Amino acid sequence: MSRSNLSRRAWARASALALVVLALAAGPAQAHHPRGLRDLAQRPLIGTAVNTDLLGSDATYTSILDREFNSVTPENAMKWESVERERGVLDFSAADRLVAHARAHRQIVRGHTLLWHNQLPAWLTSGTFTNDELEAILREHIIDEASHFRGRVYAWDVVNEAFNEDGTLRDTIWLRQLGPGYIAKAFRWAHQGDPHAKLYYNDYNLESIGPKSDAAYALVQDLRRQGVRIDGVGFQGHLGIQYPYPDTLGDNLERFAALGVDVALTEVDVRMILPVTAEKLATQAEQFKGMLNSCRAVRRCVSYTVWGFDDLHSWVPGVFAGEGAATPFDENYRPKPAYFALRDALARHRHR
Ligand code: G3I
Repeated sequence: MSRSNLSRRAWARASALALVVLALAAGPAQAHHPRGLRDLAQRPLIGTAVNTDLLGSDATYTSILDREFNSVTPENAMKWESVERERGVLDFSAADRLVAHARAHRQIVRGHTLLWHNQLPAWLTSGTFTNDELEAILREHIIDEASHFRGRVYAWDVVNEAFNEDGTLRDTIWLRQLGPGYIAKAFRWAHQGDPHAKLYYNDYNLESIGPKSDAAYALVQDLRRQGVRIDGVGFQGHLGIQYPYPDTLGDNLERFAALGVDVALTEVDVRMILPVTAEKLATQAEQFKGMLNSCRAVRRCVSYTVWGFDDLHSWVPGVFAGEGAATPFDENYRPKPAYFALRDALARHRHR
């Protein structure tokens, strides 16, 4: 072998070695900022409910939040019991921290929720008010809170969970004392408080076509007939693998979109009866993915929000004894099959 051949071969080996050394010196391939769910598709926005107690104080929680999600919903910080524990004393501090964090991390904010029958302040639930007094209190609350966040909240869950499973109106102080018109009034006051925000009706067990989603469908038509602004309907998406999957979700989202409103999956989680098994995790992953695919197939489905992204801080075990593991990350912040199923669904192109 001639000297020149030898030197050429030696040079080639040396160059290859140099390239390997350079690559290793640059660190592992994942040294670049890892792409999260939020980077994989233009639509829908990918969101999560946020526990503001962990925001900033839990570095891993906050890192995953900002890497993966471009939409945030305060899990509790904007609820009436949180913002007005004492009558007339408004405290938006926790929610303001979340809104500021979202702005700094290019995340939109879904406001949750102006009017609900749960998590009301004790001074309200233990008080006795005439119908007119209660209406004035509700009006002031909605306008005060919507005004406080004016221009900083992309959409509000104005009214949350007003229907029973059979489609009748839930028996609450609002219905009892203000009559069915309280819903239209709440939407009008929310619009008065923030003319820019999108105004949603939000509920659980709306996913399938049936009496409850029919009632929400009729509500949209009724509000529109009254000239009341409603921009969207939130389908919470709280599922359990032990129950039938809502196979009509796609058609359901389509029919609401055809009404001329946006739709959103607003509180997605898929619980299971513990213990966790690989088979249960696989079923869970399919259901997370199924809801996302149904959303992606409908142009007006604007966001898909999980109701908390890690099992350790999920609301489920505290409410459903013996159940849990409902979110895409486990109790040690490790991604589960559901997380990878969401990545897969977002990475695939949709024809619409
Ligand atoms: O703030 C108190 C705290 O002072 C006290 O020390 C602590 C222990 O008792 O309780 C704290 O309040 C808890 C609150 O979350 C804030 O952490 C309540 O007990 C607890 O019941 C409440 O649970 C929330 C639940 O709504 C209330 O119904 C969950 O975190 C929240 O994820 C859940 O979210 C709802 C949506 O808003 C609407 N759709 C259904 C969804 C699941 O229920």
